[in-house]
Amino acid sequence: MAKIIVIYATRTQQTRKIAELIAEGIRLENVEATVVDVNEATKMTARLSEFDGAVLGSATYHGEMLQPMKTFLFALEKAGLEGKAGGSFGAFGWSGEAPGRIYNTLKHVVRMDMVNGPLMLKSASLGGGIKMAQDYGREIAKKVAAKG
Ligand SMILES: Cc1cc2nc3c(=O)[nH]c(=O)nc-3n(C[C@H](O)[C@H](O)[C@H](O)COP(=O)(O)O)c2cc1C
Repeated sequence: MAKIIVIYATRTQQTRKIAELIAEGIRLENVEATVVDVNEATKMTARLSEFDGAVLGSATYHGEMLQPMKTFLFALEKAGLEGKAGGSFGAFGWSGEAPGRIYNTLKHVVRMDMVNGPLMLKSASLGGGIKMAQDYGREIAKKVAAKG
């Protein structure tokens, strides 16, 4: 079975909730989903190439992604994820820089095959956020399935 890892960096758990919803969407497409905190993922760097896709998310604080995600992105350069399905997400309040920066790094540095844009949500539960996050998961799962 194909499998996708969903990695999040959060302070107040909103981004973790979005990660869980993305994983639900992935599973609805019969693809395996593993959700891990970025600190856990940092210890797994050598095993990341076992996954068929990766979705990375961080909340935005002071116009930036959280530091552990920034450090993790440097480690991804040589993690063997080139050409694999990728996406990014994050909870934000007003400017939401983190998801776009993660997206661009995965696209241009890690050279993943990205879905069409990052997912940015003010809340995991308001304003259709649940469905949007699940749909984002479904989209990346379909991309993985299409690769066979
Ligand atoms: C001190 C502080 C700084 C923040 N800075 C930003 C910011 O620069 N841009 C933004 O969009 N949201 C900002 N936010 C809002 C958070 O991104 C928002 O609360 C988000 O839901 C937090 O996600 P998390 O629960 O995953 O940590 C800030 C929040 C706090 C408490």
